[in-house]
Amino acid sequence: MSKEETFQDLSLAPRSGKQNRWRWLYAELRGAILDGRLKPGARMPSTRNIGKQYSLSRGTVVAAFDQLQAEGYTRTVVGSGTYVASGIATGPPYAARKPATLALHRSKAALSKRAQQFLKDVEVMPASHSIGKAFRSYEPAIDLFPVDLWARVASRVLRRAPRSLYGHGNAAGYQPLRRAIAEYVGSSRGVRCSAEQIIVTAGTQQALDLIGRFLLSDGDQVWMEDPGYSRALQTLRAAGARIVAVPVDSEGVIVKAGRRLAPNAKLVYVTPANQFPMSVTMSADRRMELLRWAASANAWIIEDEYDAEYRYFGHPVAALQTLDSSGCVIYVGTFTKMLFNALRLGFMVLPERLVEKFASARTLVDLHPPTLDQAILAEFITEGHFGHHLRRMRQSYAERIEVLKTAADKHLDGVLDVVYAGSGIRTLGWLKTWESDQDAARQAQEFGLEVTPLSMFTIKYEHPPALMLGFAACSPAELRRGVSVLGVALRSPKTLSGLPR
Ligand SMILES: Cc1ncc(COP(=O)(O)O)c(C=O)c1O
Repeated sequence: MSKEETFQDLSLAPRSGKQNRWRWLYAELRGAILDGRLKPGARMPSTRNIGKQYSLSRGTVVAAFDQLQAEGYTRTVVGSGTYVASGIATGPPYAARKPATLALHRSKAALSKRAQQFLKDVEVMPASHSIGKAFRSYEPAIDLFPVDLWARVASRVLRRAPRSLYGHGNAAGYQPLRRAIAEYVGSSRGVRCSAEQIIVTAGTQQALDLIGRFLLSDGDQVWMEDPGYSRALQTLRAAGARIVAVPVDSEGVIVKAGRRLAPNAKLVYVTPANQFPMSVTMSADRRMELLRWAASANAWIIEDEYDAEYRYFGHPVAALQTLDSSGCVIYVGTFTKMLFNALRLGFMVLPERLVEKFASARTLVDLHPPTLDQAILAEFITEGHFGHHLRRMRQSYAERIEVLKTAADKHLDGVLDVVYAGSGIRTLGWLKTWESDQDAARQAQEFGLEVTPLSMFTIKYEHPPALMLGFAACSPAELRRGVSVLGVALRSPKTLSGLPR
């Protein structure tokens, strides 16, 4: 068999028009080595023959050969030629990986148990292609965000940042931002902490992930509010938690029920300022009861304050952390709802004894949060823009809930009883004529609205059917339009996709 025939037997895949020539040749030859078409120790076809056969310049072929040699797939023997390296593991295992098998490897079956648990639970957040659609519930008012001001602060910070900020940052977060956060949570939420207790995270989501990884062992029991924040439940379950659903009433999570169901739970997740999704505030008695139990059971409490800044009437209630004398509360806050989602910055206030350990262990997760983004945020806060923005938003959201309520009274009478939320960025509407909130939500979606059924957040304890309606993200005009469309949707006969599935 001539060398040329040997090479033809390699059946290199044809090059697609856009592919760089030497990269194509390199990839094809590497594939031939890995799947055993070119055996370890075999002589490589000559560069001249390859060039001729595939109409490639000598420079192109040499570049591909050089790359193979640099990566250790081949070796050159002076005066003799180029050979496939003898230590390369080749043959059937790789050869068997035809495209169909590769697809199988990418399928769920090839993933770890942990990833399979992730995939079983997760609801992927779609990327936003629009803003402020009625009744988007997971966004603050992006239409009112002072984009020009943010851009000015960002550009100044980036221009003046010392070169050292382009190197590695502190695992716990950028120190001026930690200081600004400690000052803000102290003055605004009464949280008692030093800057050293702050760990900057990629939003609440990363805080939950780190807490799950670092405080839970497989099978540990975790109390979750029912109904509650499903993403927190999913994240903690993915960390190995056994979830215990604890019902919620008008005073927040029912601590007595939790104590009966799982007296030795390791962790509790709560939203005391504005319970998600029922929007109740945890009473003082419940707070004390929860803290007493956690101290005696040696349990941790996650206090998630994602939208506590937005309170429209009544007095703001101080954070649960302010009452914690045994150091069991981990306070979690986020800038995604106070500024904008894409920022992906949030923080935890940790009891002192956890700080060092969390900061060090976090290194294996993402080293540290992005420094320059933190520097921009730190400046935005210390120059007073953050406080000003929150005050403006509080006023605007109060107007928006008013618009929603007024429009609902006019258009939704008899079909949806919308709660006049006193806090937060979303509210509930109790369905009067639909038995299934999932059907009602599908019907509304069919009419182009973004609504979420309450039952999506229930774990075990049923509630009357209700829809979650976001109001902060939507302009008054969009809220009015949304309400009138919702009225039509809920009064129309069920469409096909509105039928029970
Ligand atoms: C209860 C609750 N906590 C926290 C968040 C914010 O999460 P993140 O900071 O990861 O965006 C949300 C967002 O919708 C939420 O509903």
